[in-house]
Amino acid sequence: MSSYLVTGGAGFIGSHLTEELVRRGHTVRVADSLVTGKRRNLDHIPGVEFLEGDLADLPFAQRAVAGMEFVLHQAAIPSVPRSVNDPITSNRANADATLNVLVAARDAGVKRLVFAGSSSEYGNTPVLPKREDMTPSPLSPYALQKVMGSQYCQMFTRLYGFETVVIRYFNVFGPRQDPSSPYSGVISVFATALSEGAQPTIYGDGEQTRDFTFVANIVDGVLRACAAPNAAGEIINVATNGRVSLNELLRIMNTIVGTDLKAIYKDVRSGDVKDSQADISKAKEILGYTPIVSLEDGLRQTIAWCKTESAAARL
Ligand code: UD1
Repeated sequence: MSSYLVTGGAGFIGSHLTEELVRRGHTVRVADSLVTGKRRNLDHIPGVEFLEGDLADLPFAQRAVAGMEFVLHQAAIPSVPRSVNDPITSNRANADATLNVLVAARDAGVKRLVFAGSSSEYGNTPVLPKREDMTPSPLSPYALQKVMGSQYCQMFTRLYGFETVVIRYFNVFGPRQDPSSPYSGVISVFATALSEGAQPTIYGDGEQTRDFTFVANIVDGVLRACAAPNAAGEIINVATNGRVSLNELLRIMNTIVGTDLKAIYKDVRSGDVKDSQADISKAKEILGYTPIVSLEDGLRQTIAWCKTESAAARL
């Protein structure tokens, strides 16, 4: 059994990673500022050590990595529009903290660090699906900060021989994704709206496409990246490899919920990418990854969770 630090472990993706690591019998420490994460995301997981603090503060990052064999660096302020509105706060959380965690982990003798990259790094590069060897073209501060994190990871492997793997996530969704902020991921927002009988909002004409990925697929990809022999220094897409428009997404979700709610259309959001779809052949080759949960099954699980949450909130 091994020891893992999950930064951002009280957040949506981090809490799923923590849950699976504990289920597999590993020792897990979570470091989280609780700016976007929530302590209650970990309430059901036994035996997790929890450190509250800001990884942009180097001594905290050093305390967090001490004695750990693996670091899963998930901590971030994960929002394109929030980074457009407040690039400095976003940069501190996504770029400054990442450099601190890399330096601290390297110095503490961590075996391998896996970084949460983002499909936004590709921007509007014309070719689909997106391959890892394409030159990044960030359209928002968030995307640029993720490019910086990814490139720092690769540089730390090249310069210092410190093993890093960047897993590029494509629009992750699932239970525990917080629907309550204006910056929330679209599936969590739609699921809540439909469950409450409210009309969802679509920014733009709804023909933008995304490779929506259920969180269990991401957990599988990230944990494979900790062990895969040829992964160090690599950037690897993890996604479903499909592409669905927002109009189509709403249609599928209406069918699952049993509603027929029409969208209200508003202006396209600045910094928004038009189309996104991953080539996942590198993940197959290096990680042995294939998606284990389809979009539809993932949507069903997410909507079921959302209904339970809404029912609990009404009690
Ligand atoms: C981007 C990244 C993703 C990253 C995420 C972090 C891309 C392709 N993806 O997601 O990898 O993890 O940032 O935040 O860059 N929308 C609506 N109505 C809503 C909410 C959103 O129409 O109520 C639209 C957005 O304008 C966008 C799409 O839905 O076109 C998806 O938005 P969102 O879920 O916020 O994620 P991205 O910004 O695509």
